[in-house]
Amino acid sequence: MFSTDELCSLRWDPTRQTVEVIDQTLLPHTLRWCHLDSMDSFCHAITSMQVRGAPLIGITAAYGLAHALQSDSSSENLERARATLLATRPTAINLHWALQRVVQAVAALPPEDRAQRALACAHRLREEDIVNCAQIGEQGLRLLQALPVGKTLNIMTHCNAGWLATIQWGTALAPIYKAQAAGLPVHVWVSETRPRNQGMNLTAWELQRAGVPCTVVADNSCGELMRRGDVDCVLVGTDRTAANGDVCNKIGTYLKALAAHDHAVPFYVALPLSTVDMDCASGADIPIEERDGAEVLSVYGVDAAGEGHAVNLAAAGTRAANPAFDITPARLVSALITEQGVLEANSESLAGLNFA
Ligand code: MRU
Repeated sequence: MFSTDELCSLRWDPTRQTVEVIDQTLLPHTLRWCHLDSMDSFCHAITSMQVRGAPLIGITAAYGLAHALQSDSSSENLERARATLLATRPTAINLHWALQRVVQAVAALPPEDRAQRALACAHRLREEDIVNCAQIGEQGLRLLQALPVGKTLNIMTHCNAGWLATIQWGTALAPIYKAQAAGLPVHVWVSETRPRNQGMNLTAWELQRAGVPCTVVADNSCGELMRRGDVDCVLVGTDRTAANGDVCNKIGTYLKALAAHDHAVPFYVALPLSTVDMDCASGADIPIEERDGAEVLSVYGVDAAGEGHAVNLAAAGTRAANPAFDITPARLVSALITEQGVLEANSESLAGLNFA
């Protein structure tokens, strides 16, 4: 299904020698590509969430670092640009990982060779991500095929861990796309993912484009759906997984894991190895992004004429807190689905992975 360049979140424009990304803040109402051609535009794309999702944030930053070296390839600028890009968002470890990959590829080179090598490294990370996500899809498909279910497999997901969050396929959505291609009847419960609504705006849009049956539900309804027996498994992505198997993902993931545990519903987490942080002993070490409370107090949508508006939901002066991620303890995770296989969420399994 990903044979054309249309179905990707980030592409290289060889004519303009710049990166193009889908502006995800406009979805699902408008599909618009925008060029990233300055350090400010790369940083703005990440902080404003024109690009979001752990793997895509990392790859965008890698291209940003390559771009910075085009005008100044000194060691000072390499470090300055790396630090600037790293500061854009705190939680997804892929940002740090991708920047390190570029730094390692170029730091020992003469400055005049760095820009070209950095760009080649960014291209390589993009290609690797596509291969890894396709692998995650294959690994996850086997898990889905083994589930004892009725006619249709009802999968619940949260936030967006599809191709919009990576380059193609996605992490949590990759097994779903593979299942659909394999002829497995699937239906996806898409939780809206307040406050930024990545489930409703991005995941439902992706799935509908791909012809995968899906239903959007309010975040709060997920426990009730499980109690009714309407959920065969939960399948989510992660922004950082600690060495002990604790999983950090979009706020609301933890509550789904608790409900899934209570109802004996398998809770799966799909991730590339670039999302594992072996330097974090447990989830308690993972920095949780605190975003502007205004995101909780307002909502964006389009009117009947297609005009976009943000509207206030609360009384003037209302205070809001907005932690963007939460930690699901490893004991609530049924399995981790990686490009190297399906494993238990614990220190022994994670230590056995090949991070080379
Ligand atoms: O704040 P976001 O939209 O960047 O958060 C994204 C998520 O939480 C995804 O579930 C996570 O990055 C895994 S995506 C492959």
